[in-house]
Amino acid sequence: MTFQITKSDASSKSELYENLQLQLRSLLESERDFIANAANFAALLYHSVPDLNWAGFYLRKRDELVLGPFQGQPACVRITIGKGVCGTAAEQRQTILVDNVHEFPGHIACDSASNSEIVVPLINQGELIGVLDLDSPSFARFDDEDARGLNELAEIFVQGSSSSSEFK
Ligand code: SME
Repeated sequence: MTFQITKSDASSKSELYENLQLQLRSLLESERDFIANAANFAALLYHSVPDLNWAGFYLRKRDELVLGPFQGQPACVRITIGKGVCGTAAEQRQTILVDNVHEFPGHIACDSASNSEIVVPLINQGELIGVLDLDSPSFARFDDEDARGLNELAEIFVQGSSSSSEFK
């Protein structure tokens, strides 16, 4: 199988995320393995969403988040639920947008290039299974449109992948 990421010349974020939905659905079409799909989803985001230095997953194992498939620099492996941006999004089960990570109390610095961040919780049948994390070298890189677009993509990914039970 070959998959060519279609570089979007989208002039708006809504076009970008529409285009990403098509590409993600295509990646998930013939595969349900959670880790494989997460790896391809991270690669799709990293190579398609402008101005990122990290894109990937932390997956919930008991009361911790453990590093999952990602693209970017090596990152911290374990994050306690409730700690950092990822742990806070996991605890609150809410998307968190951080315009300046250096001002976020308890921010966990993995890549010194990161200046803003968005974290989207992954929920499957009411259960928190992990988070999707994107970092940018630009301040205030992410807005509500990114939050909406990434939440829709996360939902497509969760629905199109096998249940989380095997990686607990
Ligand atoms: N900054 C995150 C940690 C993960 S890295 O950004 C990849 C946090 O504060 O939870």
